[in-house]
Amino acid sequence: MRLVLLGAPGAGKGTQAKKLVEKYGTPQISTGDLLRAAVAAGTPLGKEAKFYMDKGELVPDSVVLGMVEARLKQDDCKKGYILDGFPRNTKQAETLDNMLTAMNMALTSALSVDVPFDDLMKRLTGRRTCKACGQMYNIYFSAPKKEGVCDKCNGELFQRDDDKEETIKKRLEVYNAQTAPLMDYYSKKGIVKSVSGTGNIDEIFNKVCKELGLN
Ligand code: AP5
Ligand code: MG
Repeated sequence: MRLVLLGAPGAGKGTQAKKLVEKYGTPQISTGDLLRAAVAAGTPLGKEAKFYMDKGELVPDSVVLGMVEARLKQDDCKKGYILDGFPRNTKQAETLDNMLTAMNMALTSALSVDVPFDDLMKRLTGRRTCKACGQMYNIYFSAPKKEGVCDKCNGELFQRDDDKEETIKKRLEVYNAQTAPLMDYYSKKGIVKSVSGTGNIDEIFNKVCKELGLN
């Protein structure tokens, strides 16, 4: 599978990507995760990225594009890739197309996970993530058995810096203005698919696999 996952902040792109990784072993490339790792490591790139992420704005294309290209060139992507949170605007989408054509690994699908706007705020303010294994929880919808502790590995759960109400509002605005138009971009290429992202996570995953023609 050579896939782009589309969807608003909180739609469940990361949740579904992780399930695809578990079942099919295809690598997930989440630009958000890569940027957060750079922030945590305190690299110059991380310091630049943090300035934008804390405001809920997009990190400049120049920073993100180089990072994605380097990741796609790694050997494990020869068997496929799942792009999660990238591209985020038309410039990124066009550059990605050129990059992938040159590498002979063009996209096969762009799958949109659709969730009503009103549900997104609760999903994001309620999100908690394991520091050790990355497993995601939600204090409203899928709470861990013990508060603050990962069910899978006993790791400590944390809340993302940008999951504050004000920053979430900005991220949703940026999504509507810059990222939502990509539906049209991929639709013109004839590779768009979509699933409803509301309801049980495993049921959504079954629909995702069906849409992508996976078994
Ligand atoms: P990024 O990390 O990509 O965040 P995002 O797009 O805002 O999306 P999220 O990760 O918040 O949501 P998700 O769809 O993955 O949902 P999840 O599965 O976690 O980007 C962060 C920042 O980095 C950006 O603002 C920007 O600054 C920068 N950045 C990243 N990429 C960039 C790029 N390409 N260019 C420029 N800048 C970039 O689920 C959310 C919650 O809902 C969880 O708690 C989960 O448990 C819960 N949930 C999931 N499914 C369900 C369900 N079916 N029912 C109930 N709850 C559910
Ligand atoms: Mg995510």
